[in-house]
Amino acid sequence: RPASSFQQECFDTARSDEERTDIDWDALGFGLVQTDFMYVMRCTLDREFSTGALNKYGNIELSPSSGVINYGQGLFEGMKAYRKEEKGDGLLLFRPEENAIRMQVGAERMCMPSPSVDQFIHAVKQTVLANKRWVPPRGKGALYIRPLLIGSGPVLGLAPAPEYMFLVYASPVGTYFKVNLVVSHRKEFDVFNLNLLQEGWAPIHLVVEEKVHRATPGGTGGVKTISNYAPVLKAQKQAKSQGFTDVIYLDSVENKYLEEASSCNLFIVKGNVISTPVTTGTILPGITRKSIMEIARDYGYQVEERLVAVEELCDADEVFCTGTAVVVAPVGSITYRGQRLQFQTGDTSVSRKLHKILVDIQMGLAKDERNWTV
Ligand code: COI
Repeated sequence: RPASSFQQECFDTARSDEERTDIDWDALGFGLVQTDFMYVMRCTLDREFSTGALNKYGNIELSPSSGVINYGQGLFEGMKAYRKEEKGDGLLLFRPEENAIRMQVGAERMCMPSPSVDQFIHAVKQTVLANKRWVPPRGKGALYIRPLLIGSGPVLGLAPAPEYMFLVYASPVGTYFKVNLVVSHRKEFDVFNLNLLQEGWAPIHLVVEEKVHRATPGGTGGVKTISNYAPVLKAQKQAKSQGFTDVIYLDSVENKYLEEASSCNLFIVKGNVISTPVTTGTILPGITRKSIMEIARDYGYQVEERLVAVEELCDADEVFCTGTAVVVAPVGSITYRGQRLQFQTGDTSVSRKLHKILVDIQMGLAKDERNWTV
């Protein structure tokens, strides 16, 4: 039950679900649409998080010397809520405890206190319920949820910040790579099955980056720190200016093994074998990645987590990316040292099949035998 009168107000607002916004759900991409409420919880370094509350969505005040601004002491998560029914109140979250645990692992690496699993899930549920009117109609997208954990207290000498803030906000989103495709690969777009495109099933076009690395052994590539993301913007920007959708990074030691793309994990398919780079500390252990591996095994594929050499791309039938934002994205081509390798992406592809199985569970269209949805 909502505790305070402010929380009651949040839930009253949320209840007016019919009172939809004038948003054009068909035009949703992956950009910020401000919603009504965010959840905030604070603690000091020597104490645990105790109680948080919904706040109106808005700017937050931070000391200019806060740990997050000065030294990048921060983590984030990404999750989605879907409408369960065509009409009705039901909303579904996908494996939220996995995000809560991943944040705890990251917090330990970044010397931060973290919310308990229950606190994390409670905060996410409150945020989603309070912003219920922003959850897109079924089939039009999802409410993307962004939990943040930041060192908010002031610090000058390099040390963990004395105070922390856990914050959850949300934004309705559609397909992650939608816009890039239309702009940069018009030819493929024209010949590709239009029905699939309308569902957001669009092949992306990647380039292998050999100079910039995303992560190094002993670094933080295996946790979701905010500081993993800005360093790849330059390579991503350059790739986009050349007409690619995104970049594939290689390992920083031998420049030989696939790691991940800027915002998602990678899989390659050869016959019945589906391989993905093993997570040994430089690759983010994606929850979609883990779920796709479990689904693929259940459906009889041989799934391998191992070092995947970049040369293996030359021989692959399919390549696809996974992530919360991306879901499952088929890769139409990868350019490596000037050579453009092409892959199957159509209606009968393995990635298409796995995508459908996953999304049907996430949206409540298929029986959730693994109890993944909440
Ligand atoms: C997600 O997939 O949720 C992420 O956190 C990636 C982000 C760069 C959009």
